[in-house]
Amino acid sequence: MTDRQNMNRRSMLALTGKAGLTTLTAQAIGVNLGLVGVAGAAQGKVEPFRFAIISDPHLYSGVDHVFDKNLEDAVSQVNGLAKRPDFVIAMGDIAHHGERDQMEKGKRILSALKTKLVSIPGEHDWYLDMGASWRENFGKETWSFDHKGVHFIGMNAILTPDFWTAAKLTPEQRRDWFMPLNSPVPGLWGCGEAQRDWLKKDVANVDPATPVVIFTHSPLWDYYPRWNFQVSDSKEIRQILGKFTAVTAFHGHVHHTVYNKIGNMTSIGTMSTSWPWPYPPVKLPYPEFQQNRADPSNTSDGMGSAAVDLDQKGGSFVTHQPFADSLPAKMKNGFKA
Ligand SMILES: [Fe+2]
Ligand SMILES: [Fe+2]
Repeated sequence: MTDRQNMNRRSMLALTGKAGLTTLTAQAIGVNLGLVGVAGAAQGKVEPFRFAIISDPHLYSGVDHVFDKNLEDAVSQVNGLAKRPDFVIAMGDIAHHGERDQMEKGKRILSALKTKLVSIPGEHDWYLDMGASWRENFGKETWSFDHKGVHFIGMNAILTPDFWTAAKLTPEQRRDWFMPLNSPVPGLWGCGEAQRDWLKKDVANVDPATPVVIFTHSPLWDYYPRWNFQVSDSKEIRQILGKFTAVTAFHGHVHHTVYNKIGNMTSIGTMSTSWPWPYPPVKLPYPEFQQNRADPSNTSDGMGSAAVDLDQKGGSFVTHQPFADSLPAKMKNGFKA
């Protein structure tokens, strides 16, 4: 067993047993509370099951890059879950530079999963070849399916208006404008009219009591638009899904755990396997909790995967699975204040 797998075991225990990780546990409880309203409408219609989330591997070209190992560790983490997930969702940013070899490497590493894989793209996957190699390796970017009483939706949320053709940018220049968090050139991205029309048709005949789970790379709310922690047409998407008793929206992109609730939509951000982005300088209302990331000497702190358990009533319980124990070293064995 590797050091990191050892840490996984400790972290999982910590999630259920240690007060020091209240951030992660409380977030999960918050998610459950957020879906209490489903109970009456959907009772008995959901056959309980689990799915898992792996997000933002940001693979580089070449061999033996540390991010390759991180993704392999996330795959081991998911494969090691005592309760097998029915599927795994890869939440985008597989390939840091959008290169075909990075995409193929991601597909190869993820092929070790002992369960079905579904995927949505991130901006790093998309703008070198406008999704061509991502599609070749991971399929369609807009999809839905029904599973054990839950309606699942995946959409491409990182589409921007064309700023590159008139500027005569090369594919590499176009891609590179999406690299920094606060890049001013691409502007705010979203799902766009064609996908919104698709979504309207997709949910037209779905019973409003059906629990809905939607996956987008970026959050379906205005978390911090300056860093593109947003989806520009999220309000319209929330309106299209407004008829449902409860919608749970999962996203990657922000590379940390975050929770939000607007109307019937509960949003959950998940950790990346590559690096943790800082929390943006915004104050979020209760019941938002920031993930503890208090050990600067721990290079795996703030990264990992997630497991989501859907219960009989359609409620979901999220267990964030950090690669490393997020307790500061001095707190691991208790401390006196
Ligand atoms: Fe990312
Ligand atoms: Fe991203």
